[in-house]
Amino acid sequence: MYQIKYVGGPGETSDLEMAYIHRMEKICFEGEKPYAYVNKQERCHWWVIVYEGERVGFSGLELFKTWNPKFGFIFLTGVLPAHRNQGLKKRLVRAMEKKLRTLDVYRMVSYASYDNLPSANSLISLGYKLYQPSDPDWGTKWAYFFRKDLWQ
Ligand SMILES: CC(C)(COP(=O)(O)OP(=O)(O)OC[C@H]1O[C@@H](n2cnc3c(N)ncnc32)[C@H](O)[C@@H]1OP(=O)(O)O)[C@@H](O)C(=O)NCCC(=O)NCCS
Repeated sequence: MYQIKYVGGPGETSDLEMAYIHRMEKICFEGEKPYAYVNKQERCHWWVIVYEGERVGFSGLELFKTWNPKFGFIFLTGVLPAHRNQGLKKRLVRAMEKKLRTLDVYRMVSYASYDNLPSANSLISLGYKLYQPSDPDWGTKWAYFFRKDLWQ
């Protein structure tokens, strides 16, 4: 059975848990520059998926509270290849949405690179809509941005 486990908020996630996340990131984003680097440990909330005692997926969420409205940004998610297409990313996203509501944050933002159909489709299944970020730093040419208002 798969379990979605919250492993900590900003500055709370243990070094051991971050090491598991780094290891999964290397597998899921083979050949790409590692992204779950140290300041993400300090700034983000993290979840892992546990299956038979092993970690098989992860997700990181950063809160942007100075913007209006405040929002959570899912910046990195990975599910190990053997465990894909079973709705696990969607379960991670639902867990993150639930956490946001408890933090009084009601908008979620994420993105998918233009060629990552599973990533985009999992968000579409959960009711996310495409949008163009107003801040040019957020809107890159290679990614589609998605958002969902959670108070609906
Ligand atoms: C993207 C990723 C996290 C998805 O994880 P997952 O647990 O398999 O996702 P889910 O099963 O929740 O949803 C996948 C959706 O994509 C669909 N899908 C799968 N393969 C697809 C394909 N080749 N083309 C189009 N849609 C596809 C599935 O049918 C499902 O859609 P549904 O919700 O309508 O059923 C996983 O593929 C992964 O780790 N990829 C490598 C890392 C990565 O790219 N991360 C995302 C960017 S941060």
